[in-house]
Amino acid sequence: MPAQPEQNLRVPGPTPLPAAVRDALSQPMISHRSPEYEAMQAEVLANLQHFFQTEHPVLLFSASGTGGLEAAVVNMLSPGDRVLAVTMGAFGDRFAQIAAAYGADVRRLEIPWGQAAEPHAIADALAADPHTRAILLTCNETSTGVLNDMPAVVRAVDAATNRPLLLVDAISALGAVDLPMDRLGIDVLITGSQKAWMAPPGLTMIGVGPRGWEAQVQARMPRVYFDFARQCKAQDHHQDAWTPAVSTLFALQAGLRLMRAEGLPAIVARHARVAALAQQGFEGLGMPLVAAAGYRSPTVTAAYVPANMDANSLLRYLRRVHNVVLAGGQGHLEGKIVRLGHLGWVEDPQVTGALHAMEDALQQGL
Ligand SMILES: Cc1ncc(COP(=O)(O)O)c(C=O)c1O
Repeated sequence: MPAQPEQNLRVPGPTPLPAAVRDALSQPMISHRSPEYEAMQAEVLANLQHFFQTEHPVLLFSASGTGGLEAAVVNMLSPGDRVLAVTMGAFGDRFAQIAAAYGADVRRLEIPWGQAAEPHAIADALAADPHTRAILLTCNETSTGVLNDMPAVVRAVDAATNRPLLLVDAISALGAVDLPMDRLGIDVLITGSQKAWMAPPGLTMIGVGPRGWEAQVQARMPRVYFDFARQCKAQDHHQDAWTPAVSTLFALQAGLRLMRAEGLPAIVARHARVAALAQQGFEGLGMPLVAAAGYRSPTVTAAYVPANMDANSLLRYLRRVHNVVLAGGQGHLEGKIVRLGHLGWVEDPQVTGALHAMEDALQQGL
């Protein structure tokens, strides 16, 4: 069969795999209880700590990002604990839903979709409810393309009388943004392999700080597979509690090597550059951005399609005619917006190529 021209995969994860990562995936399988595996895990964990900017353990679980959110909830909380869920889109809603499903007493701070979390509103919510045990926050809301001002949010949390635990979903941010876990004092920080890390889906990586470890001992929500203590003990010997997604680790190892070679400042600058291209491109096409100015994500841009057009027809045309794959909207934005992912292995031509295809689609008046 002739090779397909390579697709311009521009969803906000899974992201395209560089050649070195694809090569890594074709390695022969190894035992996960072998010295080869232990050496690989040691390297991967050291590189993850570098990008999490933490000296504390980063735990590996073979699961999608949602598994990481669930792991954070069940290891930090007990049924009945008061939780403030800051929701500004589909993924904030999911975090809140998981906590509620395990019996947390969830209070929601609902931010209109497209806006960022307002630090004063968080401070007010905490002042009104000083027994709040934890805050659930999405760093980068992938459904709207909003990046929160994390230092400002952390200042509001730190100022609370009883400083709650801060659990941060950075699934579509970490590895592309400068998010220093230890300096900010984030207690649990979650990401996923298929995003900025240039690896396939299959692993969630979770940083746990000192307050998180204290909370873990007291937390009474049920957990077996996602038990932080069990995985941490195994990782002390570069082992895993369960059989890990070995091939995804091969890929993550290769992705992290590429990232170390490029360096965090250059990675952050590249994401800022392609994000600016995406934002200007959509606006130039007359497609207003969903995210408020000042809070636009470096990893995903969401834009409204013209009122007389259906986003899903546009997406089908882009795929069929241009081999460009964008994502649609979620929740009430379904059919109204498109989302362009620009994280991980991405340079200017992939973004400008997708925008040219969009220009053609708009001219077709679909
Ligand atoms: C911010 C955010 N949180 C959670 C998730 C869920 O991750 P997964 O689809 O890997 O379960 C995603 C996935 O897109 C995300 O972007």
